[in-house]
Amino acid sequence: MNIKDTIESVRKQFRTDSDPFPDDNDKIDSLKIKYLGRKGLIANLFTQMNQVEAEDRPLFGKYLNQLKNEINSVFDSSQQKDSDSKTDQIDYSLPGLNFNIGYQHPLQTTLNEIKSIFQNLGFSVAYGPEVDDDFHNFSALNFPPEHPARDMQDTFFIEKDIVLRTHTSNVQVHLMKEKEPPLRYIVPGRVYRNESISFKSYCLFHQIEGLYVDKNVSFADHKGILEYFVKQMFGAKTKMRFRPSFFPFTEPSAEVDIWSEKRGQWLEILGSGMVDPEVFKSVDIDPDVWHGYAFGLGIERICMLKYDIDDIRLLYQGDLRFLEQF
Ligand code: PHE
Repeated sequence: MNIKDTIESVRKQFRTDSDPFPDDNDKIDSLKIKYLGRKGLIANLFTQMNQVEAEDRPLFGKYLNQLKNEINSVFDSSQQKDSDSKTDQIDYSLPGLNFNIGYQHPLQTTLNEIKSIFQNLGFSVAYGPEVDDDFHNFSALNFPPEHPARDMQDTFFIEKDIVLRTHTSNVQVHLMKEKEPPLRYIVPGRVYRNESISFKSYCLFHQIEGLYVDKNVSFADHKGILEYFVKQMFGAKTKMRFRPSFFPFTEPSAEVDIWSEKRGQWLEILGSGMVDPEVFKSVDIDPDVWHGYAFGLGIERICMLKYDIDDIRLLYQGDLRFLEQF
């Protein structure tokens, strides 16, 4: 048998041995050793090459190399298939990935709840500027020039006449100047006060202003709507009281407290009153024709009462251990 026939017979033998290709590693290894090992059939063919006439050697060497490459490529592609199928594999027994869902901030939840109570009563939502002039934040609301609230101690000034609003009542003035009565609005927003930060006060907080202007509005209407609000927000059995108070822009004025069983004390949640005729005059509304009431709710206070939070600063620190509880 000449060398070419020998090469061909090894090729045939390999094709039989490798079809089907073995599926366990030991069998693959022994197949590889049989053909490609140091003493394997291919190596044996190479040693037979020195019996070949020198002039024929290049040609037979070429045949032999082709066979070697063919065998190598069969092993290579089987290895490739093996690693492909490994990366495709999914281990269904592994625990799933945890996706963190977002949480609504408790202030937002409280605000949404307050808004929907008043929207059900026919109030629309309006917004106004957080940076405003002295006229809207103070003068039109009947604050006398020497009123302590205008002091640098309480108010953040941007310029001599421009402030960060100290309450949402500035929007009362915008609404009454820009729209014709009757008016029925709630106005949520941020307000700013130059106070030292502690568990009960922060340099910024949120209010919701309410403004109702119409003909024949009485203090009883005003009381009724606030009572309705408190019962909706805190439950029908909530104890509340109206406490006479003073604001330059309402007359008479009252503050509303609700009883906290847990703390054993009354807690103030809002200021309110009948719109002062002086305010109507400064926005060119005739106080002999129109009457109204206004109120300002502290959203933080309501939120802290509702969710039993005892430090206002927690609402501003973005600490997930706190926020994840809501
Ligand atoms: N603006 C007042 C405050 O910030 C609250 C208030 C609003 C009082 C409307 C009466 C009427 O304390």
